[in-house]
Amino acid sequence: MAPASRTEEPTAPVLVVDLGAQYAQLIARRVREAHVYSEIVPHDVDPAALARRRPAGLILSGGPASVYEDGAPSVDPGLFELGVPVLGICYGHQLIAQGLGGEVAATGQREYGATTLTRDGSGGVLLADLAEREQVWMSHGDAVTRAPEGFRVTAHTDAIPVAGMEDPERGLFAVQFHPEVSHTPRGQDVLKRFLFDGCGLLPDWTPVNIVEDAVERIRAQVGDAEVLCALSGGVDSSVAALLVHRAVGDQLTCVFVDHGLNREGEPQQVEETFGRHFGVPLVHVKAEDRFLAKLAGVTDPEVKRRAIGEEFIRVFEEVAREHRGARFLVQGTLYPDVIESGSRTAANIKSHHNVGGLPEEMDLELVEPLRDLFKDEVRRVGVELGLPEEIVRRQPFPGPGLAVRIVGDVTREHLSTLRSADRIVREEIRRADLERATWQAFCVLLADVRSVGVMGDGRTYESPVIVRVVTSEDAMTADWARLPYDVLEAIASRIVREVPGVNRVAYDITSKPPGTIEWE
Ligand code: XMP
Repeated sequence: MAPASRTEEPTAPVLVVDLGAQYAQLIARRVREAHVYSEIVPHDVDPAALARRRPAGLILSGGPASVYEDGAPSVDPGLFELGVPVLGICYGHQLIAQGLGGEVAATGQREYGATTLTRDGSGGVLLADLAEREQVWMSHGDAVTRAPEGFRVTAHTDAIPVAGMEDPERGLFAVQFHPEVSHTPRGQDVLKRFLFDGCGLLPDWTPVNIVEDAVERIRAQVGDAEVLCALSGGVDSSVAALLVHRAVGDQLTCVFVDHGLNREGEPQQVEETFGRHFGVPLVHVKAEDRFLAKLAGVTDPEVKRRAIGEEFIRVFEEVAREHRGARFLVQGTLYPDVIESGSRTAANIKSHHNVGGLPEEMDLELVEPLRDLFKDEVRRVGVELGLPEEIVRRQPFPGPGLAVRIVGDVTREHLSTLRSADRIVREEIRRADLERATWQAFCVLLADVRSVGVMGDGRTYESPVIVRVVTSEDAMTADWARLPYDVLEAIASRIVREVPGVNRVAYDITSKPPGTIEWE
């Protein structure tokens, strides 16, 4: 498959030069929250290549290294000569000092955590909104002990003399603290001063503009060719499909492969939303029988996943064959996927992950209208496009669906049991207004386990259901949600009362790590 080709830049970006990944991503997010478009670039980027992108500003991120260490990440001093405003943060602050003739030293005065910053004078351009003394978050060993010539010092702390410095005439700004973290309460004001005063930008990167921009780029890429999109009903593929539909209308055909492993009501909702409400041509492939046949007798989680992935490919290939003219395939790849894969051309890896592994020989070029966006931005674009709240706010759902939430055999009966229990959890979480506070809320059926209970006058011997509700930022780590007892009580009593075949409910209090979110 060919990687997606990008046409032109959406808008002059603020580029975050990555000197330590976890910081760079957060900075880019904060810039975007200020409605300015931002992307991450590697620290060894060539200044000439960077200049060709006509950035509106550069931010040198923090990083774990010491500027003196051998092999410490550095930047080409040419970056300071481009006439583009630069903000250095933490390690970036020290690189500016070192690169332009100031002094950086291991003072032995480590600062880590909440620290009081004292403004010098009015705080210059960047710190103008801060009080004279302000709490900031620090994390450094080395410190700038003398600012380069032409710079004025804008702040200090008890431990370090140069906690902020700037040379506004040359467009150079730097702070030792981390304005991007929430532990620096006024940090966003500092970033905004850089963006709006330092770079002269306007906060005009909004969902409306993102949509207009994406529509133009899709049209330029696709022309009058036919486009296919595998729709899962999740947020990403739904928003991607709607963007492409807005751009090229009936040239888009969406394919919803209903594997019979969805939550209650989901296939109908997809059909309702896309087919009826938005008028998107939708091929709804009802493939439950095929998938269940492949899953019969399979209990190993990995074998289940592979069986589902392979069957998905077979079904999608059949549909694609009927659309021989289609040249493009829409994918809901997001920006974090692009960052994690470390390259803008890593589309092939994602295609396997996203749609269960479409074959390379399909010979379709990818259209990835979300590859510059973070998840929350995708949600806002979804709202802008009129996608219903139920889909925009939908919690992540694994591609193999309920099959990986049945410990044991995936049968019609087990699926039906799990679906009913799952509906109750969702209803009670919604009733308690906890949907947004939780990352995922679902059930796992231990189909092969039985325990004894008593209902009415009789003994029961049935399966338990595990309720799993977690909080998370990004699914890489997760914690079990401290649900109020009355919510747990409502969930447990309703499941045992309303779901035949279940006589016991347990709540999973394992965090990730060491657990994973899903059971299989
Ligand atoms: P785990 O269980 O690894 O899950 O903690 C992390 C997140 O990924 C989702 N998940 C999947 N999503 N295909 C997907 O598209 C999959 O095979 C898959 N497995 C897990 C899971 O729901 C959680 O949000």
